[in-house]
Amino acid sequence: MDNRPIGLLDSGLGGLSVAKKVIEKLPNESTVFIGDNAHMPYGDRTKEEVIELTRKSVKFLLSQNVKLIIFACNTATAAAMSTIQEEIDPQIIGVIQSGSLAAARTTKNKKVAVVATNVTVNSHAYAKEIHFRDPEIQVTELAAPKLAPLVEAQKDHATNLAVVKESLAPLEGKDFDALIMGCTHYPLIQTEFEEAVDNKKVTILDPADQVAQYTFNVMRRDGLFSDENQPAVHEYYTTGDPTSFDRLARTFMDDDTLTSKHVDTENE
Ligand code: DGL
Repeated sequence: MDNRPIGLLDSGLGGLSVAKKVIEKLPNESTVFIGDNAHMPYGDRTKEEVIELTRKSVKFLLSQNVKLIIFACNTATAAAMSTIQEEIDPQIIGVIQSGSLAAARTTKNKKVAVVATNVTVNSHAYAKEIHFRDPEIQVTELAAPKLAPLVEAQKDHATNLAVVKESLAPLEGKDFDALIMGCTHYPLIQTEFEEAVDNKKVTILDPADQVAQYTFNVMRRDGLFSDENQPAVHEYYTTGDPTSFDRLARTFMDDDTLTSKHVDTENE
């Protein structure tokens, strides 16, 4: 039994797509979420910068006494997870292994597309992880640097759809049957992804489903479940503007009372 909260981090609002699935799967667990909105996009930074910024969010989460940390960010998983895991005790759970497992299980024609940030694509973390499971799977990796900032900008459906279509255009004519949303921001515009792909043969995968299951398994294995009589509390922090964070977070998390707090990780 361990009543400490689960920590989650992302460069911004995208990590909410993981938080939502984790909260659904583990309703007794408290969570602390930090979005580093002031420094997003991580996807256009150097690996060193992503490590440095992620380390600051991890330090904040450790100050909140978390029992494990979910990197609800593909870019941080690709660039920083192995380095930071060596520095801290609590287990870190990333999103890329889970997304790769889901893709390897889903594809029938052994052709998978991964849409992600520049950092994630350039790391080839998805291709490596998918090939580790099945070397025969053909992986097409596409960087879509406009999409995470688009989500943060909170635009209307028509604007989102136009940018998603433009970003996914290089995939036209490719014969994949599974597409990984390899950036946690993308599930917030999943409707636009579905419209843009418009191909019944293609399954659009959100790694967060598998992340929630994996987190459950790790917690059961390590005896980390909270006491079920203790009410779960969910706290949200942003290095950016809480009003803007709450606008999208309230709708997406379906919680009108959600209120984030500003935190300055530079001076923690
Ligand atoms: N949500 C993040 C990811 O999963 C990163 C977006 C960004 O800051 O570029 O990759």
